[in-house]
Amino acid sequence: MKKLKFTNGDQMDAIGLGTWKSEKGAVTKAVKIALENGYRHIDCASTYGNEAEVGEAFKEVFGGNTVKRDDVWITSKLWNNAHKKEDVIPALKNTLNDLNLEYLDLYLMHWPVAIKPEVGFPEKAEDFLSLDEVPLIETWNEMVKAKEQGLVKHIGVSNFSIPKLKGLMEETDHTPEMNQVELHPYLQQNELLEFCSRNQINVTAYSPLGSGDRPDRMKAADEPSLLENPVIQRIAKKHGANEGQILIKWSEQRGTGVIPKSTNKERIIGNLASAGFQLDEDDLKEIAELDEHFRYVTGKFFEMEGNSYENIYDD
Ligand code: A2P
Repeated sequence: MKKLKFTNGDQMDAIGLGTWKSEKGAVTKAVKIALENGYRHIDCASTYGNEAEVGEAFKEVFGGNTVKRDDVWITSKLWNNAHKKEDVIPALKNTLNDLNLEYLDLYLMHWPVAIKPEVGFPEKAEDFLSLDEVPLIETWNEMVKAKEQGLVKHIGVSNFSIPKLKGLMEETDHTPEMNQVELHPYLQQNELLEFCSRNQINVTAYSPLGSGDRPDRMKAADEPSLLENPVIQRIAKKHGANEGQILIKWSEQRGTGVIPKSTNKERIIGNLASAGFQLDEDDLKEIAELDEHFRYVTGKFFEMEGNSYENIYDD
């Protein structure tokens, strides 16, 4: 499997297990299955509401003698309600406590959006703080401190556009080491990838399979399906693979990280096996033509009349 390289020499397995939308009752088992079957990269976030259950799996597996903590790359994310400088490190410590870990490999600012500390998920304009009140650089500087304190090995961002990356980079010497964004054949983001590559920012693809298990409030009625796309279906048949494996392979072969979520044993194991075959030139050409700049995760849930957020992705 491909590995993503960091400037200090650290490496991250491209394919990791995603845990967004994984039920509390299923995620402990899913993470154990993943680690026992070769995954060495797990992606988490405090807003997924299941870090304590993921942490149970870490405790059990790392307490045994098959997989060592240091051999696994573990990512988590700072939620929007902890952007104020006094809240960043405490939020990180809560995550470490829930995950039963001493350190994270990677900590990401989940969104370029700040909300009030007492708010879980924002529902009205008053739930937000503007970026004038809590600038991204204030949050970022605390993440730099967390790295200096050894609580995390690498720091990065998520859902950042090129203008937002540039804005942050103008204000700091600590370039984000990762940008985790939605990426799949319908949203190929070539320009963002080029920008990141030029600036030594690694990229990880979220919602690589289209996140069909999103809550209804986050879904549009006429969404195209990636797993049922005829081109993807044909390429899957050709390689004797399933459609999910083609989508995962496409991301991995492109040099990004990719974090398919599953709580199903067969699919967890099968998704990692995507590393074991190659897409050829014809496959890549056909998939390149599927780009239609379509987002499943529109970010519209953060854009409300009366708050200061609009066009979060700057596109
Ligand atoms: P399940 O957890 O039952 O396996 P994403 O990673 O884009 O958020 O997509 C996750 C969704 O895709 C979940 O509904 C998950 O269901 C499903 N899924 C995971 N792996 C595959 C696969 N190989 N083929 C089809 N669906 C998959």
